[in-house]
Amino acid sequence: MAGSDDPVRRAFSGLALALDGPMLIVTAAAGGERAGCLIGFGTPCSIDPPRFLACLSKANRTHRVARRATHLGVHVVPAAAAGLADLFGDETGDEVDKLARCAWREGPHGVPLLDGCPNRFVGAVRERIDVGDHEALLLDPVWAEHRDGGPALRFGAARRIEPGHPA
Ligand SMILES: Cc1cc2nc3c(=O)[nH]c(=O)nc-3n(C[C@H](O)[C@H](O)[C@H](O)COP(=O)(O)O)c2cc1C
Repeated sequence: MAGSDDPVRRAFSGLALALDGPMLIVTAAAGGERAGCLIGFGTPCSIDPPRFLACLSKANRTHRVARRATHLGVHVVPAAAAGLADLFGDETGDEVDKLARCAWREGPHGVPLLDGCPNRFVGAVRERIDVGDHEALLLDPVWAEHRDGGPALRFGAARRIEPGHPA
């Protein structure tokens, strides 16, 4: 496998940074456990039918809970809610009960819905694809809310956060 000094790898990582995509928080509930983490790897991927791809690191507790979940919550993180990004990106549920530290309610299919993120949806897990050190979950939206939540927090502003789990 090519190392970190590989020029293609270096250029690819530079252009991935330049995309500066929106930050999302994925939540999951299964078998009496709840979890959630900050993700940058998430995107709509079909218009008709509407579908979304959310990628979870196999190292994360959220991935372990999501493996057993039928539905996931996907929240757009407002730029003004950087504290939530810190909580869900910098802490791991292996050590901290993140949901005890923020406001949320139980949404459709038991999925935790975060009060601080007014733009969110619940998606049924349609497929799970092994894409490398992450697993991509293909979601069919079954419930959604879209309100004025202000601009989204972007990757460039979230890079300062030290991930709770190395990918
Ligand atoms: C800027 C940024 C982007 C991240 N992107 C992802 C991602 O796309 N997928 C993912 O699973 N984790 C991603 N993480 C890492 C998790 O949010 C982090 O490791 C978290 O602490 C995991 O929590 P958990 O163990 O409770 O699931 C990202 C973290 C940061 C700071």
